[in-house]
Amino acid sequence: MPDGLLSALQHPLAQARGLPAEAYTDPGFFRREQARLWARSWVAVGAASDVATPGDVLPLTLAGQPVFLARGQDGILRAFHNVCTHRGLLLVEEAGREKLLRCPYHAWAFDLEGGLRATPHFGGIGCHTLEGFDPADHGLKPIRLAQWNDLVFLDLSGDAEPFEAHAAPLVARWADYDFAATRPAGRMDFEIAANWKLLVENFCDTYHLPFIHPQVNEYSKAEDHHDVIDGTIVGTGNRTATRDGAPVLLPPFPGLPAGKARLGEFLTLFPNVLIFLMPDHYFTVTVTPLDEGHSTERLDFHFVGDGATAPEHAARRQALYDLWAELNRQDIAIAERLQKGRVSRAFDGGRFSPALEAPIHHFQTLVARMMEEA
Ligand code: FES
Ligand SMILES: [Fe+2]
Repeated sequence: MPDGLLSALQHPLAQARGLPAEAYTDPGFFRREQARLWARSWVAVGAASDVATPGDVLPLTLAGQPVFLARGQDGILRAFHNVCTHRGLLLVEEAGREKLLRCPYHAWAFDLEGGLRATPHFGGIGCHTLEGFDPADHGLKPIRLAQWNDLVFLDLSGDAEPFEAHAAPLVARWADYDFAATRPAGRMDFEIAANWKLLVENFCDTYHLPFIHPQVNEYSKAEDHHDVIDGTIVGTGNRTATRDGAPVLLPPFPGLPAGKARLGEFLTLFPNVLIFLMPDHYFTVTVTPLDEGHSTERLDFHFVGDGATAPEHAARRQALYDLWAELNRQDIAIAERLQKGRVSRAFDGGRFSPALEAPIHHFQTLVARMMEEA
């Protein structure tokens, strides 16, 4: 187990040292991180609207483990380990809609609620039962699942704190926003040659705005930002995040207080989902590690009311997609170059600007704590 991660961070900010280069480049660190962090946290894995209809199934990988989401005939969304309880075949290979999940190897069948429904010929040809074998004991193994709006979270360990406690800082902070008034709209996917932490850290980074995003910094200025650091949430915000003091482009969240008419907040719910909240839309960026040097990002956009679908708003929606995609491409180029720099043996963890990089320090502290916790 690596040691000293936390102790290097635990200094006054101006003297603290960040996570070492190995945390971003070493396959051994990545494996430990899968076991200690990804398998023991509430991890965002996808959207409930991906599996909207009873019978929908969707295979995923979480912390190196095959899992799948399933919408039961009762309409409830569940998650299971993706393995047949007979001899261990991968049960669900691709997304689909099924009444029963039939394992192709020996035709055991599971319902979408996880129950084992058929074990043909298990007692011998023509005999489908076996003395002492109770199918009720051999159903699929469930995984804890929670939802925040359309986002689905899983806790592989079953031991993470209750999701309500995990998400409480986020829910409390954005209590003024009526997320029920939003509808899912566009989606974008990116694959990035960088460690997942570099992506999260860059989203919390106010310091780079004037240099990497001059087009936004003209109106959403770095000097007007505020930090948000509250337990599981970390990020930044700006009270003047819309262009040139203009009103928002699309229908805004209903009943927003006047002080929030131009507010943008950009928060990470630890460990892996960034949520960009604007007065007329929000989008989530779900970061998923592939290995120590590669990650994916999935962006899911949500607009308020008919902002999501009305044809008269199509051009404005497209303008927002174009803006965020352009900003994200600028960030991806930086993240990939950070990854290349992290290979250097001369990098000692680096230093933080107390005025501009406290959120990154907090994020790294959360990582270090999980890596060093018993
Ligand atoms: S491994 Fe699935 S039925 Fe045998
Ligand atoms: Fe950026």
